[in-house]
Amino acid sequence: MNRMSSPYRCHVFICLNDRQGARKACADGGQGPAIKDILKEQVAARGWKDRVRVSQSGCLGLCERGPNVMIYPQGLWFSAVTPADTNAILDEVARLIG
Ligand code: FES
Repeated sequence: MNRMSSPYRCHVFICLNDRQGARKACADGGQGPAIKDILKEQVAARGWKDRVRVSQSGCLGLCERGPNVMIYPQGLWFSAVTPADTNAILDEVARLIG
């Protein structure tokens, strides 16, 4: 095992967990992939790829509030996210990376 510091200033996780309707999950409503795509495209377009990583994730534990997006290591959470909220999330990322 190797241990190292993260090469990113922040890591944005978008929960895409899908429980196929068995119980509430972030994939309900189908907006997660669009949220992820917009964030990835905008991080690249803004030249942040060396400082910001956007990744899909499994369950983050706040399923009833989904779709959920979180930013680490700053520990920011966004719940009930829609594609229209991505600009606000990107504004937070801009603030975090200075
Ligand atoms: S399904 Fe997304 S937080 Fe649990």
